[in-house]
Amino acid sequence: MGLTQDPNFEKLQHWFTAHALNLNVRHLFEADKERFKKFSLTLNTEDGDILLDYSKNLITDEVMKMLTDLGKSRGIEAAREKMFTGDKINFTEGRAVLHVALRNRSNTPILVEGKDVMPEVNKVMEKMKSFCHRVRSGEWKGFTGKAITDVVNVGIGGSDLGPLMVTEALKPYSKGGPRVWFVSNIDGTHITKTLAQLNAETTLFIIASKTFTTQETITNAESAKAWFLEHAKDKAAVAKHFVALSTNDAVLACFYNAVDFLFQWVGGRFSLWSAIGMSIALHVGFDNFEKLLSGAHWMDKHFRTAPLEKNAPVLLALLGIWYINFFHAETHAVLPYDQYMHRFTAYFQQGDMESNGKYITNHGARVNYHTGPIVWGEPGTNGQHIFVQGVMWEINSFDQWGVELGKQLAKNIEPELNNTAEVHSHDASTNGLINFLKKNFA
Ligand code: F6P
Repeated sequence: MGLTQDPNFEKLQHWFTAHALNLNVRHLFEADKERFKKFSLTLNTEDGDILLDYSKNLITDEVMKMLTDLGKSRGIEAAREKMFTGDKINFTEGRAVLHVALRNRSNTPILVEGKDVMPEVNKVMEKMKSFCHRVRSGEWKGFTGKAITDVVNVGIGGSDLGPLMVTEALKPYSKGGPRVWFVSNIDGTHITKTLAQLNAETTLFIIASKTFTTQETITNAESAKAWFLEHAKDKAAVAKHFVALSTNDAVLACFYNAVDFLFQWVGGRFSLWSAIGMSIALHVGFDNFEKLLSGAHWMDKHFRTAPLEKNAPVLLALLGIWYINFFHAETHAVLPYDQYMHRFTAYFQQGDMESNGKYITNHGARVNYHTGPIVWGEPGTNGQHIFVQGVMWEINSFDQWGVELGKQLAKNIEPELNNTAEVHSHDASTNGLINFLKKNFA
């Protein structure tokens, strides 16, 4: 049964038709002095309280009750449990989705096909820790014997935005660590401008790509390597300045100096918790990286155990459903007013669009994010609400094939840009855009 056929959805639809036009936030506050208390949630963590205030939304007690009932009938609770127990819920790729294992600081066993994955996670963590220590302490030397002062993360999407957002957010904790830079755009200006500010002798490049098939990343990595060799003039020096983070065995075996790897049972987006978070660990130190994981782990436990009515990610997901499916409206980000968090929206938008974007496109709505101001002391929110919405819409939020298809399309277009012939091989709009570019920017 699809979402809109669910009797609980129909109930909400009737309510919406009868009352939605009369909803007025100011009046709702005037009519109920307890409203803030009722529609806010304080989560008590060991490191301080997290406040989720969703009282300024167009909701009533009745709406929240119906939304929660809808969440229950859509099977959120069962799906949530399947995720935590290593079920292959990424059904289009036949994979488990265990970002939660990466941040499982309690170290309780998590089984995939009967095998506990935690020893593997801990092994990678140890590798990251020791690498981090070597770089930050100055023991890791560049080709002229100098310590590393700058780290450049070369990657895109999930291999860029998470670490970019977190290193920005945690700047105050970066004392003693190298500076970090992020290069993602295939437009050469991005890397050229970045390299112009760096010294090859003291720069470390992290090539972050799950697949190593991503054109933007490969192109930027090659440019970085060419720039580096112009200065070092010695191929043997590359290993001191380039590390690869990938699941691609061929890369790990022979390309650059692969110090780490990712896990086949994670995949998809939200990868900053894995070795993709290396730039974070280098910038703020491994202890702080572990604290970041602990914050996320705290939120995982809350997500797994709290009843839906008192579950922060679930409430945010339900509010999203309310606006998207009933109001057909955009939802907007209301983030903590903190300059250090200014990359948060881009990070979330990417996760949301790539994960549940199919639904959004089909229904013509564009989603920004978010529906409730959430204020917290330690970072620890993990995109679980995106997963919850995926469950409700019957979407596999973790599917990576769409992203891979995008890469294939880009590969087909690339040779077409290398000559002046008019292109007719795509849909009319794509042909029009390519031909315009060829004519005007050749
Ligand atoms: O998982 C999605 C995504 O991170 C995209 O945002 C990005 O385009 C692509 O994958 C990058 O893939 P890779 O990490 O393999 O280079």
